Amino acid sequence: MSKYWSDVVHRLTPYVPGEQPKLTNLVKLNTNENPYGPSLKVIEALKAEAADSLRLYPDPNSDRLKSVIARIFDLQSNQVFVGNGSDEVLAHVFQGLLKHDKPLLFPDITYSFYPVYCGLYGIQYETIALDKQFNIDIHHYARPNGGIIFPNPNAPTGIPLALAKIEQLLRQNTHSVVVIDEAYVDFGTESAVNLINTYPNLLVTHSLSKARSLAGLRVGYALGNKDLIEALMRVKDSFNSYPIDRFAEAGAVAAMQDSGYFEETCAKVISTRDTLVNELHALSFEVLPSGANFIFAKHKKIDGEELVVKLREHSIIVRHFKKPARISPYIRITIGTDNQSSSLIQAINVILKSV
Ligand SMILES: Cc1ncc(COP(=O)(O)O)c(C=O)c1O
Repeated sequence: MSKYWSDVVHRLTPYVPGEQPKLTNLVKLNTNENPYGPSLKVIEALKAEAADSLRLYPDPNSDRLKSVIARIFDLQSNQVFVGNGSDEVLAHVFQGLLKHDKPLLFPDITYSFYPVYCGLYGIQYETIALDKQFNIDIHHYARPNGGIIFPNPNAPTGIPLALAKIEQLLRQNTHSVVVIDEAYVDFGTESAVNLINTYPNLLVTHSLSKARSLAGLRVGYALGNKDLIEALMRVKDSFNSYPIDRFAEAGAVAAMQDSGYFEETCAKVISTRDTLVNELHALSFEVLPSGANFIFAKHKKIDGEELVVKLREHSIIVRHFKKPARISPYIRITIGTDNQSSSLIQAINVILKSV
């Protein structure tokens, strides 16, 4: 606290990111990164970018990256917005498209950055309870609102919502923007991108941090009707004209173009996830259905918080959320390599014998 702070800063409750440990010998399954490095084509592109041209500003509109993304999704470049990680894209979405007189709606259990943006931008919101099985029930969103946002699959549960339900939501909610945050969509969830040309109020956000193995480069993008994209451009150009630096654009272009590597690594993560879920079931864990590169699991003999502490003693880090109380028994495990999964299962076997 300081008398020099603005009122807004006094009132903020900032987001707390998962730990990035300084120790290198840990099995790191806590922040949903990809266990496989980026495509070698990305590394080549980054090396080529380390040149005299770094003295020049990058393209403020990231036209090359936008056109590569547009081609992949069969859209026009003016239907694509790119930013410094999907968190930055989401920040602009909250400010530019979701701040209205009526409240923004999102699930009570979801990505914990959403209420933080609301605090930063003074957006009023209402949370809508997930059902008993932690599913989003779109009927509960049929109420006055200034916008709707949720991740698909949801976080931190990992549960996907069927595309038919999203289309039903778009049919029932035509007067405000519906944002589907597809940060984890490539691990077995149906994307809503193909609905963009039918529903002018649909905005879909994607991240290169997960399926494209580029959390360290910070690139994300939004896809939607050109009027929605123009709103985001107006916010960006009132904030930072160059969110995508020369390295980020070169690396992101190479990553988006290497579809073979992307498909191969996603398939490996999905296969490791399926094996891990079976092994956890065999140890009497309850695991929520996942369409993501993480799973949400609980065991009746040990609380989530205690399990996280015990796993850390085995040099394995996973994530725990204390609030709301309903999810406190669970731990969120990022899917790693097969070897990392084996270490996890070995550690859990030892821990369960001691409780
Ligand atoms: C649901 C969800 N959306 C968006 C993001 C932001 O991803 P990034 O800013 O790395 O693109 C995350 C990151 O963990 C997330 O969990």
